[in-house]
Amino acid sequence: MTSFTFLGIESSCDDTAAAIVRLGDLGGEILSSVVEGQFALHADFGGVVPEIAARAHTERLDDCVEKALAEAGLTLAHVDGIAVTSGPGLIGGVLSGVMLAKGLAAGSGKPLVGVNHLAGHALTPRLTDGLAFPYLMLLVSGGHCQFLITHGVDRFERLGGTIDDAPGETFDKTAKLLGLPQPGGPVVEREAALGDAKRFRFPKPLLDREGCDMSFSGLKTALLRTRNALIAEKSGITVQDRRDLCAGFQATVAAVLAEKTRRALTTYLKHSPAKPTLAVAGGVAANGIIRADLEVVCAAAGVRFLAPPLWLCTDNAAMIAWAGIERFKAGVGDASDLVARPRWPLDITAPPMIGSGKKGAKA
Ligand code: KG4
Ligand code: ZN
Repeated sequence: MTSFTFLGIESSCDDTAAAIVRLGDLGGEILSSVVEGQFALHADFGGVVPEIAARAHTERLDDCVEKALAEAGLTLAHVDGIAVTSGPGLIGGVLSGVMLAKGLAAGSGKPLVGVNHLAGHALTPRLTDGLAFPYLMLLVSGGHCQFLITHGVDRFERLGGTIDDAPGETFDKTAKLLGLPQPGGPVVEREAALGDAKRFRFPKPLLDREGCDMSFSGLKTALLRTRNALIAEKSGITVQDRRDLCAGFQATVAAVLAEKTRRALTTYLKHSPAKPTLAVAGGVAANGIIRADLEVVCAAAGVRFLAPPLWLCTDNAAMIAWAGIERFKAGVGDASDLVARPRWPLDITAPPMIGSGKKGAKA
């Protein structure tokens, strides 16, 4: 079998990343993966500032690529192709990556493949576990939340997703409202472990509606109201109040995701997959309670639950290099139409996602 080695480049949000991935006889192998986060640059602004992100990507990308090549013990001459995230995302950042990749491809004569960032996440379980199509993917991060039946390298069926905030965004906002540090997810999870999830009841929007769409922005408002009512009552919230609020909030997000996953699995199973699997990606998939609830839903449906290691669930360039290899092999990676795209839905037949989150446009 031919072995393919690709350089991957990712710069669509607030992580500057480069990686080298090889496909050999035993499957995919990550030779190097460099990720430089920008957390400190945006910390004072309560969200990612697109211009600051784009500038940082432009300044750091060369260095990331050099590091990735050096860690893999290779030079550009050794790679068989270059894959770059060409959307969706914050356009300035996407452009930084695309311009660099175009320059490297022109200079080295290597093929160039544009990769959809969401396809990178969705194809990761094939890199880590050689997962066969079709499988169900739940992408749940700070910027995205959607169910995708992954039928093929270039064929995705979106069953639904958030119509407003992504769950990670809601965890971050909850932390902010309760005076906890960012990123909110891990801190809220730690506080919630010490709280009573039954003390405060929060609404579960869209649960009464059919389908797999979700909404999380009302939950944030409900939490704000409850917090304000506590402050009005006793001029402040206690440590226990905060823990109980975190626990109630987290249980609500977990319940919504679990119920919508149950529905998504029902639709997915109609395709009679040989080895039914739910794979997750995104930072929120690190949450122990959410994960445990999803595992229960999968077990009840007779479906395997698969979570790639966390460093491959969050933004990285190994997933982009891998998706580039898959596209190249399938003959669907054509650089002639490679343009940077702020929006780029994976399933163009599904109704468009509306609005944009703190990490850019929904796709
Ligand atoms: O996938 P990711 O690293 O980045 C993008 O969204 O691009 O996800 C980050 C998000 C943040 O909003 C963070 O608060 C959330 O994932 N997160 C968690 C946990 N760890 C990270 N949310 C809930 N529970 C966690 N343990
Ligand atoms: Zn991502």
